[in-house]
Amino acid sequence: MTETRPNAEHGNGEAQPEPSFPLVEIQDLKTWYPIRRGVLARTVGQVKAVDGVSLAVKRGETLGLVGESGCGKTTLGRTLMGLEQANEGRILFDGQNILAMKPAEKKDIRRRMQMIFQDPLTSLNPRMLVRDIVTEGMRALGMIRDSEAEDTAASLLAEVGMNRESLTRYPHEFSGGQCQRISIARAVSMRPDFMVLDEAVSALDVSVQAQVLNLFMDLQDKYGLTYLFISHNLSVVSHIADHVAVMYLGKIVEYGTVADVIGHPVHPYTQALISAVPVPGRRTQRIILKGETPSAARPPLGCAFHPRCPEAADVCRTRAPRLEISSHRLFACHMRNHDR
Ligand SMILES: Nc1ncnc2c1ncn2[C@@H]1O[C@H](COP(=O)(O)OP(=O)(O)OP(=O)(O)O)[C@@H](O)[C@H]1O
Ligand SMILES: [Mg+2]
Repeated sequence: MTETRPNAEHGNGEAQPEPSFPLVEIQDLKTWYPIRRGVLARTVGQVKAVDGVSLAVKRGETLGLVGESGCGKTTLGRTLMGLEQANEGRILFDGQNILAMKPAEKKDIRRRMQMIFQDPLTSLNPRMLVRDIVTEGMRALGMIRDSEAEDTAASLLAEVGMNRESLTRYPHEFSGGQCQRISIARAVSMRPDFMVLDEAVSALDVSVQAQVLNLFMDLQDKYGLTYLFISHNLSVVSHIADHVAVMYLGKIVEYGTVADVIGHPVHPYTQALISAVPVPGRRTQRIILKGETPSAARPPLGCAFHPRCPEAADVCRTRAPRLEISSHRLFACHMRNHDR
């Protein structure tokens, strides 16, 4: 059984009435990887890559997801896409819990959710012509006839700023930025509503990064796309995102608008992350965190951030803070909660 809510038409690029609930709602999501040992590959523990995440992505908005390497950003994105299996929780897409759906029911949802990866070249089949890469999905779903592939591919390439001559070339003939444009054309061909962009510009030169970011924003305006924008680069996130969620060791520690979270971070971890980014005109002291990120296989008791937190008190060592709402934002920190 899947839950349903009144559903707007979707996926055809036309303006739709705005339902009041978010396009994507994640509820207490957990994705753990088993640690296996020995010849019998017995499970001896779990890497708690995503460990109880609740988040909402509003329609037509970009939610930035930031945090240090290994905190679980990619695992969260891949779980949304069905590329990793969740252990617990719910993912509501347009009001329907996709984790409770049968594969056949998920077919259209899968079309409506697309993902762009960090390394553009390896995500493209080296033996396929660009024309076939960008129309493969449409042909598989019967969205176009074979005879329409050439013209459809040309107009998809035009959408991402590439010319018709590219159609009969192979991925290795293009630069990183161009390969990323081809990946974007392929994703857009499915007429998605939601895209997970996982470090989608991180491997590109800075000038190319700006162009590809602008392309994402143009496509968002044109098609009303909703993005989950995963990045470790806070400057890029502040440029493209509306809201931002900060992740630490599988959990969200702060969430709010970009202006609030990046401009006035509340959680000690967010404050440290942001203090490391030079901002013209801002003179804040860099907060250097002690130690490494602990292993997600053995997260510390209490608040997972406490061993590195400059403000940790006894309560932080024993009790995990809940994500509380205060002045338009959410944060999980005993030292900031007045009613602890
Ligand atoms: N397939 C896997 N099997 C086992 N553990 C995994 C797997 N993929 C990721 N992990 C572990 O899960 C945790 C989260 O990894 P993930 O790749 O989601 O982090 P990330 O925030 O995307 O990092 P980065 O910024 O480096 O991309 C890490 O501890 C990682 O080692
Ligand atoms: Mg990652």
